[in-house]
Amino acid sequence: MQSYSPAEQWAEPRGQVQDLSWGARQRLSFANYVRADFKDEIGKDVREGLSARPKTLPCKYFYDDLGSRLFDQICRLPEYYPTRTEISILRTSGAAIMSFFEPQPGDLVEIGCGADLKIRQLFERTDPDRLAHIRYVPMDISAGCLVQSARRMLADFRGLKVHALIADFTRHVERIPAGRKMIVFFGGTFGNFTFAEGIDLLKRLAGIMGPEDRLVIGLDMIKEKEILEAAYNDRQGVTAAFNLNLLQHINVRLRADFDLNAFEHLAFWNERQERIEMHLQAKKDFNVNLAELGISWSFTRGESIRTEISQKFSRKSAQERFRKAGLQAIAWHTDPAGWFCLVELRRLQALDLGYAIQPSGNGCEKVVPSGA
Ligand SMILES: C[S@@+](CC[C@H](N)C(=O)[O-])C[C@H]1O[C@@H](n2cnc3c(N)ncnc32)[C@H](O)[C@@H]1O
Repeated sequence: MQSYSPAEQWAEPRGQVQDLSWGARQRLSFANYVRADFKDEIGKDVREGLSARPKTLPCKYFYDDLGSRLFDQICRLPEYYPTRTEISILRTSGAAIMSFFEPQPGDLVEIGCGADLKIRQLFERTDPDRLAHIRYVPMDISAGCLVQSARRMLADFRGLKVHALIADFTRHVERIPAGRKMIVFFGGTFGNFTFAEGIDLLKRLAGIMGPEDRLVIGLDMIKEKEILEAAYNDRQGVTAAFNLNLLQHINVRLRADFDLNAFEHLAFWNERQERIEMHLQAKKDFNVNLAELGISWSFTRGESIRTEISQKFSRKSAQERFRKAGLQAIAWHTDPAGWFCLVELRRLQALDLGYAIQPSGNGCEKVVPSGA
């Protein structure tokens, strides 16, 4: 495992929080795990991705400051159903999910938190007196967006402590503080992983969970192709701008000269793999120079870079992943149309035998001992 110097671990983006009140600053701490080695990592990922057939680039590089803002806009688009559907589920099931903190205290860890649109649904459904017993631990690779969201949470939820982790959830989940916790992973981000990568992440999360801990994971469910494709091909072109911004981010990080006008945004439903794929397709033949890496790459017209997969799930395909990772679903929260699910999971115990599923209202199902 990689080691970190104390300075790297506890560096605080001080400039961005200096204006907070003394009281709010006392409730805030940061740990930064990505700063020192990010350039090496992005260089390695880009080199490997562009050498692959087909070419790929990791979707985590969508999220510089502009990318995070564009994603925020996507969440508000009429075609983009996942955000409003997931929020509607949080409105109905938020209090039940937060009952984890009654009466015991603990950490509410949010990985890939982005803006605070969803997590605040949980805190708004929590008794204000309990907030002092909960520490919110948001983790995101996009430092600017993380700091802004931490600031808003401190201002809006008095008593809440925030420990913000600037970190990469593909590499740093073991840095999540030990102790009683509920980990939430909203927004269908889990769908950005391949089958094997998803199981690997779930296993690593299971590995840091105690027997009582919970993982709440968002799943975008399989639905009509037209609805799925429209969500990734909005009429205002925000998703296209978000997709192209990946190249701009690489231009800045690696002193590259990708011409954004030479690429076209493509997003389509891959029925066999049950996933949406986003690509950037070259409109002509050209070369790209990546000065930081001292290399150049040639593209031919029609060639594409796959920039994101967004897996869609059935309960069966999700359960398969959970089982392989040693996790057990104990509650499924969903909307009336079943478009999106929030699944509460716990680590499988050796004694976990003989459970049955019982409906319990609000589209929620509970797993209970089969004799109950
Ligand atoms: C699809 S957005 C979802 C944001 C938010 N959870 C929601 O549901 O609206 C993905 C978020 O995960 C973050 N992210 C992507 N890859 C990451 C990584 N490898 N490590 C940490 N954060 C990551 C992005 O910065 C972004 O905020």
